[in-house]
Amino acid sequence: MCGIVGYVGNEQAAPILLDGLERLEYRGYDSAGLAVCGEHGGLTVKKTKGRLQVLREMTHDGADQPGCTGIGHTRWATHGVPNDVNAHPHVSQSGHIAVVHNGIIENYAEIRRELTEKGYHFQSETDTEVVAQLLDYFYQDCNDIFEAVVRMIHTVDGAYALGIVCADCPDRLIAARKDAPLLLGYGKDCNFIASDVTAIIRHTRDITYMEDGEMAVVEGDSIRIYNSQLQPVEKKHYYIDWEIDAAEKGGYDHFMLKEIFEQPVAIRKAIAPRIQGGKVVLRDLKMTPEEIRHIRKIFIIACGSSYHVGMVGKYNLERMLRKSVEVVLASEFRYSDPIVGPEDLVIVISQSGETLDTMAALREAKKRGARILSIVNVVGSSIARESDDVLYTWAGPEIAVATTKAYSTQMAVLNLVGLYFADVMGTMLKSDYDEVVKGLQEIPGKMESILSRVDDIKAIAKECAGHENVFFIGRNVDYALSLEGSLKLKEISYIHSEAYASGELKHGTISLIEDGTLVIALSTYGPLFDKAMSNVVEVQARGACVLALTTDSHRAEMEKAVPMLLTISDIQEMLLPQLGVVPLQLLAYYMALERGCDIDKPRNLAKSVTVE
Ligand code: M6R
Repeated sequence: MCGIVGYVGNEQAAPILLDGLERLEYRGYDSAGLAVCGEHGGLTVKKTKGRLQVLREMTHDGADQPGCTGIGHTRWATHGVPNDVNAHPHVSQSGHIAVVHNGIIENYAEIRRELTEKGYHFQSETDTEVVAQLLDYFYQDCNDIFEAVVRMIHTVDGAYALGIVCADCPDRLIAARKDAPLLLGYGKDCNFIASDVTAIIRHTRDITYMEDGEMAVVEGDSIRIYNSQLQPVEKKHYYIDWEIDAAEKGGYDHFMLKEIFEQPVAIRKAIAPRIQGGKVVLRDLKMTPEEIRHIRKIFIIACGSSYHVGMVGKYNLERMLRKSVEVVLASEFRYSDPIVGPEDLVIVISQSGETLDTMAALREAKKRGARILSIVNVVGSSIARESDDVLYTWAGPEIAVATTKAYSTQMAVLNLVGLYFADVMGTMLKSDYDEVVKGLQEIPGKMESILSRVDDIKAIAKECAGHENVFFIGRNVDYALSLEGSLKLKEISYIHSEAYASGELKHGTISLIEDGTLVIALSTYGPLFDKAMSNVVEVQARGACVLALTTDSHRAEMEKAVPMLLTISDIQEMLLPQLGVVPLQLLAYYMALERGCDIDKPRNLAKSVTVE
């Protein structure tokens, strides 16, 4: 999604903005641009389609844009194709005001029509340009940029994070937020705005998050924040303790590979402080045992890979709690008139904490009285702030668009929630509970052992990379895992891939299996191993080429049946996907590498999906 960074201080803004934009690249973009208030009045605006390197060359690394106040943007096209004109910043007709925007202005067509009638000429196809021209219109009238922003905000509908500069007040940025993330950074003799903290962490770790309806006037020595009634507000500051290295590649070819290898450490960080004396202790949970015992039904709401974590969670939580768990895609939940109320718990899962559909679903559930427990990676993000309870995954910044360590830590935290609730509700045998706790603690070590065999997976990936159609099959938790394995593969390698519950094959899909079709058979779940074997035989009989994933204890039997095999250590059944996902991530990574794909920034995808 679009990325915003803004700087005001004593140093030249453009190089700082370019550096910030580079750190936002992972969010996905197709064009980029800068607007800087010139030292002798006026604005300089440079923008271009394509990678940031093009903007760097165009501006000589920012040197061509003197001035100490500016805004930068990476655009992910929604309205209007990716090209130079549609790139941000957008400049008002008078040339005095420049705007960067993340979000969608829903009534832009109507505003554009009205402004056109008033003599405004639009250059781009974007919704954002109406913001620049509308500001111009109001500014002509009041000659006060803050007042113009207030009037503009009352006119537009939709979602926005906005950074605005005006040539007539070159020491100031204006920021505004509604339904799109934006934070403020407090530096030394300088201040910042940014879509996320990675853009400014080199300069400051002292930040505050803007809330919906808030506006901020940002100058080099002060930040004034106002609520929607224009009253000044004091905000909580957050200290960001990530290491800068955590947002850099550290010797790996891609962020995705680095993040795959970070999983053992990330899981340790997520679980170790939450298991004490063999028991799960969730000190960060405010829910009382009484409230937990009275939960009627659990909903898990999320998108994409986070939804796939929810699918594993359904199997595991129902087994641990003997309580009905419904997993719903956030984009469906919000429009489904959901049957959810005060007696229900809604578990919201999101790495970024900013996914718009997930946020909207959370608000819908909250409006209906449900209690919200979120599992989030980004501290202080919108979803975290609006939830009744938050459990952070503590995975550190995840930069690659394809999630890996966030998926694993979300699952670990969800398993902890299951165990904690089971303990309170008394729904698990002590021996089963102890086995899962012990298993969770063993995950990092067992993951390390899989990672040490990366060359075997690389070799298999090489053999498989030429396939254009792949089917993942599995039952129970293997089915839930197959959804993630398939998504990982298709999103970074662009190979067409589908995931099916093995039992469903005969109901239609098997007609697609022909000579040489690659089927990845997930058969780690012991109780259904024989059934998994039957499915392997069934697809092989139709000509499929099978790659199986199973556990060490089933290796010998599976080896006899299939030409390609991946294995993981045995572990308590509910935890199998925690290990099984690692070879699937590596398989997707190396297949995509073989095919020469842009792994960290797959086409058409964005890290944080802040539009509907
Ligand atoms: O930040 P979130 O967890 O809310 O994001 C949800 C999905 O967009 C995300 O999981 C997406 O599917 C992954 N990046 C795919 O690897």
